[in-house]
Amino acid sequence: MEAAVQAALSQVLPGELAGTDPVVRRSDRADFQSNGPLAVAKRAARAPRDLAAEVAAQLSPQGIDAEVSGPGFLNLIIADRPIWQQVANRLTAAELGLPLTQQGERIVVDYSAPNVAKEMHVGHLRSTIIGDTLTRVFARLGATVIRQNHVGDWGTQFGMLIQFINEHPEQTWQGEASMSALDALYRAARAEFNADPAFADRSRARVVALQSGDEATLTTWRELVAESEAAFQAVYDRLGVLLTLDDADGESRYNNDLQGVVDELVARGIAVDSDGALCAFTEGVVGPDEEPVPLIVRKKDGGFGYAATDLATIRLRVDEYKATRILYVVDARQALHFKMVFDVARRAGWLPDDVAATHVPFGTVLGPDGKPFKTRDGGTVRLTDLLDQAVERARSELAEKDHGMALDEFEQVAQAAGIGAVKYADLSNTRTKDYAFDVDRMVAFNGNTGVYLQYAHARIRSILRKAADAGIPAGQPIDPALPLHPAERELALTLDELGAVLDDVARTLEPHRLCGYLFSLARAYTEFYDQCPVLRTEDPAVQANRLALCELTGRTLATGLDLLGITAPERM
Ligand code: ARG
Repeated sequence: MEAAVQAALSQVLPGELAGTDPVVRRSDRADFQSNGPLAVAKRAARAPRDLAAEVAAQLSPQGIDAEVSGPGFLNLIIADRPIWQQVANRLTAAELGLPLTQQGERIVVDYSAPNVAKEMHVGHLRSTIIGDTLTRVFARLGATVIRQNHVGDWGTQFGMLIQFINEHPEQTWQGEASMSALDALYRAARAEFNADPAFADRSRARVVALQSGDEATLTTWRELVAESEAAFQAVYDRLGVLLTLDDADGESRYNNDLQGVVDELVARGIAVDSDGALCAFTEGVVGPDEEPVPLIVRKKDGGFGYAATDLATIRLRVDEYKATRILYVVDARQALHFKMVFDVARRAGWLPDDVAATHVPFGTVLGPDGKPFKTRDGGTVRLTDLLDQAVERARSELAEKDHGMALDEFEQVAQAAGIGAVKYADLSNTRTKDYAFDVDRMVAFNGNTGVYLQYAHARIRSILRKAADAGIPAGQPIDPALPLHPAERELALTLDELGAVLDDVARTLEPHRLCGYLFSLARAYTEFYDQCPVLRTEDPAVQANRLALCELTGRTLATGLDLLGITAPERM
C-alpha cells in the first residue's frame, strides 16, 4: 500500500516532490489511511482535496478503493483478492517473506555482563533478555550480529578474593553450588579487608602479583573465571539466551590495551591531570554544582578504571569486529558514563562518524510492592530464585487445567511458561521505565502475558491437529476469489504487519513494540475464530482459506515469540 500510494503521488506531483512520504497507517475507518497528499499539498501549491482526488484516481485501477475524506485524507480499502494472495505468498515464502532490511549492517551488542565470583542477580535480568531479543531481531532482518558479554572478570577485588582463598584453604568453593559459596567468600573477604589492615596490605600485594602475571595467582584467577562462566552459562541455557563462552570478551581482555588508551588520550590533550588522576571532560556535562564531571581514565593510585576499559571496547569493536553500529544494553544510571565515553572516543578518532554507538538504557526491576527489590533479609535477589518462583507458579496454574499431558511434557511446558512469563513481562514494558516483578500477574492466562500468547499459539496448533485427525488435507491452495469476512480481513492485514513491526523494533530498540503486536495478533485471531467457523464449516474452499489463516497465524506467533526468546509449546 505504501509503495502504491508513493507511486501515485509521484505521478501527480512535479518531479522535485517525487519521493514524498505517503504517510500510510492502519485505520479504523478503512484498511489504511494516507495523509501524504494533505501533507505535501502546500509545498505543491495545490488544494489538498483536489490533490488527494488525483491520487485516488491513480489507485483505483490497481484494486485500491481510495476515498477522499475530511480536509484531504485518503481512506484506502484493498480488494479481497490481493489480501488472499498476500496470505498465500507469506505461507510459501521463506521466513514468512520478511525483507532483509538490515543486510550489510554489522551490529555489536554488549549485553548481560555479570561479574565473576558473584551470582547473577535481578539487576542482570534486563540487560540479558533485552540485549538477546535485539540480537535476534537484527539477525532476522539480515544484519551480522556480534554478541559481546563484557564480563566483569578483572580488577583489584580479585586480589582480595584470591588472598582470602589462599589464607583459607579449608573453604571449598569448586563444583556444585560454587557460586553461592564464592559469593559468601567474597563477602567474607570484603569484611576482613575492611577490618584488618594487615590483610588489606596482603591483598594489595596480591593485586600486584595478579597484574604482573604471577603464575600461581593467575591459576586461581582462571579457576574463578571458569567456575563463574559455567554458572552464567547454566543461567543462559535455562533462560534460552543465545550467549556462549565465545561471546565473552571480559574486562581482562582489554588489560593490555589500557596503557595505550591513556597514552593516546594524553598525547592528544584529551585526558588531563586532575588532582593526581587522569580525566577527560565533555563539553556541557556538569554536575549539580556546575562543576565539569570528570571521566576518570586513570585513578589517583595508578589503576585504570571502568571508563578506560569501555574506551578500549570501542577500539576493538570498530577496528577488529568492523562494527557499523555498537549497542550497549546497560541500565539507565550509566547514561552519563556512556555519553562521555562516546564523546571521548569520537574526539580521539576511535569512533568514526559512520559508526553509531548507542547506549540502550533500561529501568529497574522493582519488588512486587513497587519498592526496590530485596530479599526478606535485605539482600539482592538471585536470578535463579526468581526463575524458580515463576516456574513454580506456572506449574500450579497449569496443573489446574485439564491438559492431558504426560509428566515430562507437562514439566517442559511449565518451564517454558514460567521462563517465558518472566521474559515477556520484562520485554512488554516500556524499556526505559521501572516495573514491579509480580509473579501472579505474569503467569496469568489472560491479559498481555507470555502465557496468553503461548496458549493462543498452542490452541491454533491444536485446531490444525484436529483438522488433520478429521482427514482434512493440510496446505491446500488458497482460493483468492472468495469474499473476505471482516474478521478475516482484520486478521490478514494484522498478519501482514510483522515486517514493519520488526523494522520499528530495530529503529527504536524497543522490544515492547513486538510484544504489543503479538498481543493484537492473538486478539485478531480470537475474533476471527469466534466469528468464522473453521472445522465446522461445510464449504471445503472456505475451510481451506481459513485453515491457511490459522497456519499463518500460528507461524507468525511462533516467529514473534522466538524473536523474544520465548518457547512456543505445541500444546498447553
Ligand atoms: N559488569 C557491569 C555490572 O555488573 C556491567 C557492565 C556493562 N557493560 C559495559 N560495557 N560497561 O554492573
